[in-house]
Parts: sequence; C-alpha cells; structure tokens
Amino acid sequence: MSQIPLLQVQDVYAGYIKDLDILQGVNLQLHHGELVGLIGPNGAGKSTLAKTIAGLLTPRAGKIWLNGEDITGLKPNQIVQREVCYVPQIANVFRALTVEENLEMGAFVRPQANLNRLKAEIFDCFPRLAERRSQRAGTLSGGERQMLAMGKALMLKPSLLLLDEPSAALSPVLVHDVFEQIKQISQAGTAILLVEQNARRALEMADRGYVLEAGRDRFEGTGQELLSNPKVGELYLGAAAAH
Ligand SMILES: Nc1ncnc2c1ncn2[C@@H]1O[C@H](COP(=O)(O)OP(=O)(O)OP(=O)(O)O)[C@@H](O)[C@H]1O
Ligand SMILES: [Mg+2]
Repeated sequence: MSQIPLLQVQDVYAGYIKDLDILQGVNLQLHHGELVGLIGPNGAGKSTLAKTIAGLLTPRAGKIWLNGEDITGLKPNQIVQREVCYVPQIANVFRALTVEENLEMGAFVRPQANLNRLKAEIFDCFPRLAERRSQRAGTLSGGERQMLAMGKALMLKPSLLLLDEPSAALSPVLVHDVFEQIKQISQAGTAILLVEQNARRALEMADRGYVLEAGRDRFEGTGQELLSNPKVGELYLGAAAAH
C-alpha cells in the first residue's frame, strides 16, 4: 500500500441549496486497489459524497486529493480524465442506445483507445452483456443494466470506481451476481468506493468501511471491525439485515 492515499477527502462541506450543507465536514481515505464500503441511513449524504468526489458538486469547504494532487473544485470531465469513474444510483445508461453503443460512449473521452479490445474485455467480464450487445439498454433487466453501467465505466480503465448502490432494486440472485462482479473488478486491482444499502454484505466484502450519518463520517474501520462494532450493528446493520 503506497503512502499517499489514492483518494483523500478532508473536512468537506457541500450541498445543493445555498446555506444548507448536506456534507458537514466529512473525512474519508481510500488507498490504491482498496475496496471501501460507504454505508449509512437514507439521506445521510452518501450519494452527495460520491457526486462531490466525481466533481458534480463543488465543495464549499475542505479539500479533495487524488494521488496527492488537489482536485478540489475540478469539473467532472477533469475528474474522469484522472481515471475516476462514477456510476450513479439511477439513470446510469443511455436507454435508447444498444449495449455496445453504451460501451462506446463510455470510452468517448479516450478517442484513441482501442475500442474493440476494450469492448472484448468488458464482454469477457460480463458474458450476459455480450449476448445482448445489439439490444437497447432500455429493454435490459435491472441487473443487466447495472452490469452495463459498470461496464461503461470500466471502458475508461479507471483507477477508482465510485459505485452508488449497484445492487439497488435487484432480486437476490442478481444482487449476488453484481457483488461477484464487483469482487472481481476489485481483485483485478481497481480501487472501489462502494455505496450500499446492503450494508452487511458490502462490509463483508470491503477492506475498510465508513458509516456516514448526517453528512459526517461517524465510524471508520475494517469491514470486520465495523461488522462487530455493537453500535454500528445496532444502529445500521440490524435494519439493513432485515431488508
Ligand atoms: N439535487 C438535490 N437538490 C436538493 N437536495 C438534494 C438533492 N439531492 C439530494 N438532496 C438532499 O441531500 C440529502 C442527502 O441525500 P443523498 O442522496 O446524498 O443521501 P443518501 O445517503 O445517498 O441516501 P439514500 O440511501 O436514500 O440513497 C437528502 O436530504 C436529500 O434530500
Ligand atoms: Mg444515495
């Protein structure tokens, strides 16, 4: 593990409406190749934090560093150029385009890249997408759509993947499939920030995790530490396990 973290979020404040901070001094670190789970109740600010790292929201205070470079306030395209890819919670594919066209769109900021080789890698990783390469994304099942959203992000060969609730609204079998893919992407060396309602499962898989509450990091630890922390269990895992 290198000494400079891949991502460092330092005392960040951000929000959507003037004078209303959703993130209220949040801190988070993620090292190269690490899989970090981000859990917490609805409305805690998990998606807001992912959007802020992706450059869709500008911090009002605090700093964000990537590989030691201050990226606070950079625009989304500048963040993507630094190999950080964000897969949003909703509306994460182009519904009117085919699977293959979606993958090509994913790579559009790297026009010189070898598209066919990249696509072949994604199709190897997600055989279900290969079978449906000419199908419009709007007609995919929920699980297939999540795989495509991840595939689209992977077309950029990200160093850091920000996944916002990839298992949301999926059946248990598809949740299993999506988590398996995430595990493989992580094992192949991509660092991942995984926002999940499926908190127990995310922490079981994660190297480390953070519990966000009311816009602040409330607990931090290895996945196992958080899972065995009675406070975290009582406040956040009981409800999540019942889902
Ligand atoms: N575009 C927006 N404009 C105004 N307020 C917003 C916007 N998006 C989110 N919020 C507010 O910010 C707060 C945090 O929302 P956020 O989506 O970050 O929560 P979350 O932790 O991702 O929740 P969930 O688990 O439900 O996805 C909420 O109170 C929400 O209403
Ligand atoms: Mg969210």
